[in-house]
Amino acid sequence: MSASPSTNDFILQVEHLSMKFGGLIAIGDLSFQARRGEITALIGPNGAGKTTVFNCITGFYKPSEGMITLNRIDGSSYLLERLPNHEIPARAKVARTFQNIRLFSGMTLLENLLVAQHNKLMKASGYTMLGLFGFSSYRKASAESIDLAKHWLEKANLVDRADDPAGDLPYGAQRRLEIARAMCTGPELLCLDEPAAGLNPKESAALNALLMDIKNNTGTSILLIEHDMSVVMQISDHVVVLEYGRKISDGSPQSVRTDPRVIAAYLGVDDEEVETVLIEVGDEDVIEQLDTGPDAAHGPGTSSSFLAGPVTDTIGHSEGERVTVSKGASKAEQVDAKANAAPRKPAERATAKPTGSTPKPRGGRK
Ligand SMILES: Nc1ncnc2c1ncn2[C@@H]1O[C@H](COP(=O)(O)OP(=O)(O)O)[C@@H](O)[C@H]1O
Ligand SMILES: [Mg+2]
Repeated sequence: MSASPSTNDFILQVEHLSMKFGGLIAIGDLSFQARRGEITALIGPNGAGKTTVFNCITGFYKPSEGMITLNRIDGSSYLLERLPNHEIPARAKVARTFQNIRLFSGMTLLENLLVAQHNKLMKASGYTMLGLFGFSSYRKASAESIDLAKHWLEKANLVDRADDPAGDLPYGAQRRLEIARAMCTGPELLCLDEPAAGLNPKESAALNALLMDIKNNTGTSILLIEHDMSVVMQISDHVVVLEYGRKISDGSPQSVRTDPRVIAAYLGVDDEEVETVLIEVGDEDVIEQLDTGPDAAHGPGTSSSFLAGPVTDTIGHSEGERVTVSKGASKAEQVDAKANAAPRKPAERATAKPTGSTPKPRGGRK
């Protein structure tokens, strides 16, 4: 399979991805691209669907709909939703870390990094006991694996602890060890699920340094789920924002930071405060829209929740589909509803359903 030069600029292309769990739409019609050699951040409130996106990319879930294309540097392309799980790291060269640390805590740091290279070593052994002891290819692969493990222990600033059990490390060091372990598999795409969660500022700085080192000195592209906005703003090249499984913003860190829908959704301000925050952002378009006055049919509710509620079929994008902006529902939907209200003529308003509106396409604001 070959890819054209233009698609090869993007290591990952997610197109119309949906993942449903019964009546819950964890991801709805999500499309985005991650450029090769960059750090792409996926952010959004708890329950927005970020980990579910990772689970679809890495084969833990088979998506309900959509396509996930991984374009390798050699020009080959893989449709990840069609690859068997075990082939995603081996053939597509995608590695991941988990939201909850998953190390072999009783094994030493070095052993953790050698286990990650198990496939390579087994291949070199010819999958035989004799091979383990006799083949020079195995001895060579074994020496290379140890060198690679040492290299990543140094990069992660953990070489002094190489022979300690992984479980004895402080939390931030365990996070770096997980990344080192993933890097020992030689990934082209590294997916990190909230690597800065629970880190103190010093540990967070060490993590940033490691990620920037990977970006600058290996060919590996990074897809990063992160809550810590200081990490996102400092190291990301591109940010995609999810709310209730939908993309609400996509662009540079600076453009996303000042997007009113992101502020409303991600910071999760109370509904009453949405207007205040928008004004504080100082976006003239938004202020102008607000000046037209609130639309009674789409006014904000009274509650505010960051957890995904029952995101049922009431939120959608397709032409003519109705959206219910209920209490505690999408903050970004409320911002959109206000924006939609502005250009409407009085006669059109009168015909609008009391609790619904036709959503405008997303992504207009970058
Ligand atoms: N295996 C599953 N079965 C049912 N619901 C799930 C499953 N995985 C995730 N969800 C739901 O999908 C939504 C998104 O979850 P998740 O992707 O973990 O969000 P995030 O990582 O953004 O916090 C949540 O409402 C969550 O409860
Ligand atoms: Mg998550």
